Amino acid sequence: MRLSRRHFLAGSAAFGAAAAGVHAQPAGKELVPAPARAAIVPGQRETDVWAFNGMVPGPVLRFRQGERARIDVTNRLAQETTVHWHGLRLPNAMDGVPHLTQPPIPPGGRFLYEFDLPDAGTFWYHPHASSSEQVERGLAGAFIVEEREPPEVDRDVVWLLDDWRLTQEAAVAGEFGNMMDASHAGRLGNTVTINGRVPERFAVQAGERLRLRLINAANARVFGLAFGDLAPTVVTLDGQPLEPHPPPAGRVVLGPGMRADLILDIAAPTGATLPVTDTFYARGRYKLVDMAVEGTRRVSPLTQPVRLAANPLSVPDLSAAERIVIELGGGMMDPRLMRAVRERSGQPDPEMIRQFRERMAAGQVWTLNGQSVTQHQHAPLLTLRRGRSYVFAMNNDTAWHHPMHLHGMTFRVLSRNGQAVPHGEWRDTTLLDPGERVEIGFVADNPGDWMFHCHVLEHQEAGMMGTIRVT
Ligand code: C2O
Ligand code: CU
Repeated sequence: MRLSRRHFLAGSAAFGAAAAGVHAQPAGKELVPAPARAAIVPGQRETDVWAFNGMVPGPVLRFRQGERARIDVTNRLAQETTVHWHGLRLPNAMDGVPHLTQPPIPPGGRFLYEFDLPDAGTFWYHPHASSSEQVERGLAGAFIVEEREPPEVDRDVVWLLDDWRLTQEAAVAGEFGNMMDASHAGRLGNTVTINGRVPERFAVQAGERLRLRLINAANARVFGLAFGDLAPTVVTLDGQPLEPHPPPAGRVVLGPGMRADLILDIAAPTGATLPVTDTFYARGRYKLVDMAVEGTRRVSPLTQPVRLAANPLSVPDLSAAERIVIELGGGMMDPRLMRAVRERSGQPDPEMIRQFRERMAAGQVWTLNGQSVTQHQHAPLLTLRRGRSYVFAMNNDTAWHHPMHLHGMTFRVLSRNGQAVPHGEWRDTTLLDPGERVEIGFVADNPGDWMFHCHVLEHQEAGMMGTIRVT
């Protein structure tokens, strides 16, 4: 039964059907990454993509908190892959990092992922092999773990945000991970999608309460979403509940890999248009989508409080925590090079320039504590003692944004530039602005070798990663 099912899925007939819009989600959880076609830009020809189960994004995998997930992955790509379950706390062998936690899944090969789900929240999945190409071509999907007692809302909606670099013919442009992208902001695209499609409008109803789960699956684009008069309430960040609050400065900022759950009460009459704009890049503002109010859901809106129950995370003991400084370095306009030039009254230091060129030529653009790591398997950056509390004091000594992601453990965001972070923020990915200092705290409670890297995928592959060993 299972075997014939798999054969059916792998057959070209199934992918033909998927391309025609018949999206049969497999019974049980099976993921088959394979080439497919997708209608990304309305009115334009379809795009050749790589997709899970023929869908871009992949199917929304939904589970209940406390359940055990079992996901059978069969690789129908022409290259190796893995699946990483971003933000989930799971055993190291299930983390999906090629060469580090498992051998890569070869073309035609299969891997069974199986793990418990202690935490509710909005997570996502994507390959961790040649990510700058595989994720860009469309391999990503939402992974939702429902609370035992979910808050009452009228609709639970996932927006997986992505950003594509397409040619005139709506094909995915090549040159993944090129040095130009890698040494600057990463691969920024020219086409932004919600759930794999350039959005035309999003229909809502007057009076309805939405839970909007935002996921940034872009390689490099940071989103800064402003909802105008809609006054959203942030209830989780990276899947972890925190004190409900309006987004700071009126916009929800999501670096690559990051998530936010919003509660949105549609307090506007039928016929109203509510634009959602992305204002993150000062010179690149655009309207993401119009919410169009069509009809009335309810006259007296839901008003229950939306504070969600915390997940069973280990709380770091900050008084006993060991403090470790992590310096982020490298990239174009490297502040260290600039400082060196200034100190030599405007004269560049030939030795520094030589080293810089050499590193660039080797694809080692970025560093963590001076090390540039471009392969998943390497000597650990740090070794931590299981059960101990740690503070990572990260210092972004570069001219660029870096969303830093830790696998396997969820951390508390303690401070930014010395200022305490409000609302009790827990995360697996935190965005550092150029020059910013961010302190995070966590308990090293999950044994194994865990990736710690920038989630701008081009930065990751050009050196901004390391392994954190917990023994
Ligand atoms: Cu979302 Cu190391 O990954
Ligand atoms: Cu980065």
